[in-house]
Amino acid sequence: MADLLRLTAEEEAMLAGAEGPGVRRAMEIVVALARIYGATELAPITHAQIAGVSYKNIGDAGLAFLNDWANEGARVRVPTTLNPMGMERGKWQAWGIRRDFAVPQLSVVDAFIKMGVTPTLSCTPYLFAGHRPRRGDVLAWAESSAVAYANSVIAARSNREGGPSALAAAIVGRTARYGYLLDENRRANWIVEVRCPVRSVADFGALSYIVGKAVGNGVPWFVGLEGLHAASAEEAFGVGALKTLGAGLAAYGAVALYHIAGVTPEARDLGEQLIRPDAKRLVIESLDEAYRVMDADPELRRIDLVTIGCPHASLEEIREVAEYLRGKRLATRLWVTTGQITREEAAGLGYVAEIEAAGGEVVADTCAVVAPMHMLDVRSMATNAGKMACYAPMHSDVKMRFGDLAACLEAAVTGEWRG
Ligand code: F3S
Repeated sequence: MADLLRLTAEEEAMLAGAEGPGVRRAMEIVVALARIYGATELAPITHAQIAGVSYKNIGDAGLAFLNDWANEGARVRVPTTLNPMGMERGKWQAWGIRRDFAVPQLSVVDAFIKMGVTPTLSCTPYLFAGHRPRRGDVLAWAESSAVAYANSVIAARSNREGGPSALAAAIVGRTARYGYLLDENRRANWIVEVRCPVRSVADFGALSYIVGKAVGNGVPWFVGLEGLHAASAEEAFGVGALKTLGAGLAAYGAVALYHIAGVTPEARDLGEQLIRPDAKRLVIESLDEAYRVMDADPELRRIDLVTIGCPHASLEEIREVAEYLRGKRLATRLWVTTGQITREEAAGLGYVAEIEAAGGEVVADTCAVVAPMHMLDVRSMATNAGKMACYAPMHSDVKMRFGDLAACLEAAVTGEWRG
């Protein structure tokens, strides 16, 4: 195949090693991907989000790779944030996480910090001031739920980068211009007609299961979701619902972009011209089948851990939990997982103290998928998040109940799933 890629003089120099071996290695990765995907040029990026941070997932080989790169002098040249790691910085000893996990985990984060990455340790960079992209920004994000959010809700542009490719893009400040960076690939190839009510965060997770399984890596165009008169998608559905929809579409399928007719920014501006003429149609009459599958262990009663906040909880979601728990006492563990930045805001408003008074934890830096849950003696979980219901049984070897927030919090208060 002919090489279509044209590099600027500066990019050629980086590739030749003029800025050192760390930059050369990064440019080699970016250029290799550009050639694989037939890109004609590189695009400057405004931000990068790096996944593959938990020592549980990357192990010693990943740590050695990062240390090598940092020692070669690689430094990021755009604001770059980090996904969750495998534990909370200040709590791992109390949780019973072993030193042979914790010490290398902290070294992973140190390697990223050495390269200039901001250790937000959260999958929701778009919730943090100074890191929320603007419409049209080109990003190199590796967290699939965040990619779906940025592309769909904010109308920024990112492909689903891998952990190393997002870091490489951050080091050279560019990514290959292909895929969802191009207008043509942002058109919908599935019309998803929703004919049943979709109200709670769990409902949006159930919807994501059905659609993700059907469309794979397609671009769905939703019709039938209410919210046409709101000023923005976030106002129409709430950040929690949109987070979980994108996360589930990316987990059960490989969706990186969806549109909601009349609501998300590109759908609002371009209308139905954004739908390909050959788009397929999916009609959803009920979410029942999704609940049956996602609520994977219907016999399970005893819950070791109720986990809320996948993707990491927004301030509004933490407030809801705090209000529900006011004056109550928990019978089992509850984690509300979020970023440090959001937890500090929640603490300032008294929500963290209310959740702790009930016996729950607002956990930062990690989640129940990327933490080594076997070391915490957690064998059963309940959640209202579609992606958590998908990944935790596989990655953390737990049994799972799935339902709405009230059912999850009731399980936290009683210690049992009553549904
Ligand atoms: Fe975030 Fe963990 Fe869910 S990284 S998207 S809370 S699986």
